[in-house]
Amino acid sequence: MIVLGLEGTAWNLSASLVNDDEVLCEVNSAYVPTSGGIHPRDAAQHFASNVAGVVRQVLNSTDPRSIEGIAFSQGPGLGPCLRIVGTAARAIALRLGVPLVGVNHCIAHIEVERWKTDLSAPIVLYVSGANSQVLSYRQKRYRILGETLDIGIGNCLDKFARSAGLPHPGGPKVERLAQESKKYLLMPYVVKGMDFSFSGIVTAAQEALKSTPLEDICYSFQETAFSMLVEVCERALSQTDKSDLLLAGGVGANNRLQEMLSVMCAERGAHFFAPKPEYLQDNGAMIAYTGLLMLSHGLRTPITASGANPNFRPDEVEVLWIKG
Ligand code: ATP
Ligand code: FE2
Repeated sequence: MIVLGLEGTAWNLSASLVNDDEVLCEVNSAYVPTSGGIHPRDAAQHFASNVAGVVRQVLNSTDPRSIEGIAFSQGPGLGPCLRIVGTAARAIALRLGVPLVGVNHCIAHIEVERWKTDLSAPIVLYVSGANSQVLSYRQKRYRILGETLDIGIGNCLDKFARSAGLPHPGGPKVERLAQESKKYLLMPYVVKGMDFSFSGIVTAAQEALKSTPLEDICYSFQETAFSMLVEVCERALSQTDKSDLLLAGGVGANNRLQEMLSVMCAERGAHFFAPKPEYLQDNGAMIAYTGLLMLSHGLRTPITASGANPNFRPDEVEVLWIKG
């Protein structure tokens, strides 16, 4: 089966063709803010100006008659951006006369990482710009075991980085600066049950900018926030009796986070699966592949139910493609 997938939840407009085994083609058009962070209206304007060209390039790479379904990111994400990719997806599906399927962006981050591993139901740490969740598959759903009580870890890193005068996206810049320090500054460590909160760290880090070297703040920020995530992941492994941990989402690129999770897993005899770097950030292939899984299990999204869903939660989706 060949499926065309369209991603466009926030910053990356991406179209891709996949089959069951591989990514056949992917074309990206990233929105880069000229100043500050992502402006939803500007991002949507970028998507609107580029979606036809991106789709045309992907369609030119194959015989369009070989495409058996159209998948698109239905949410969660920025409403104005979601509406552009949704409109494009509906138009292509109607033009080609093939089924349409709306994909949950969070689940797509997980499925593209699970692709070609033999992991059936690991504990997942999904950490990206707007989202931070610990999930586990059980009885046809990805259950959210723990999540952020305020903002996602990536947005939190980006927000602090902006205050420090670093350009968007801040996550990779904070990581680089953190490598230059080993001086720990106390920051708010907030874990409540299985949930966590990051906004206190942003405030403390912004306050510290007045008197502390930037690399010490970056180091302390990462050590504190990542320790909170590791604690919740360890509790999730322990309480579910599972022994596989999978990392997904854009912040999963962080080497220090990967290192901390792998040490925790090694100490308790669990397996840590670091993400495939090429599919960490938002990409069309993850939407196309998850759409392929959904379509091949009979799931379809009628046009009337294909509207944008900016608050789409992963546990709303019935997962029919995982056995057992
Ligand atoms: P979602 O809709 O899933 O929340 P997103 O639109 O934020 O996703 P992603 O590409 O999944 O997009 O993640 C982007 C985030 O990842 C940004 O906040 C960015 O700063 C962060 N990031 C990227 N690389 C690193 C890194 N090396 N260390 C920390 N954060 C990183
Ligand atoms: Fe994402």
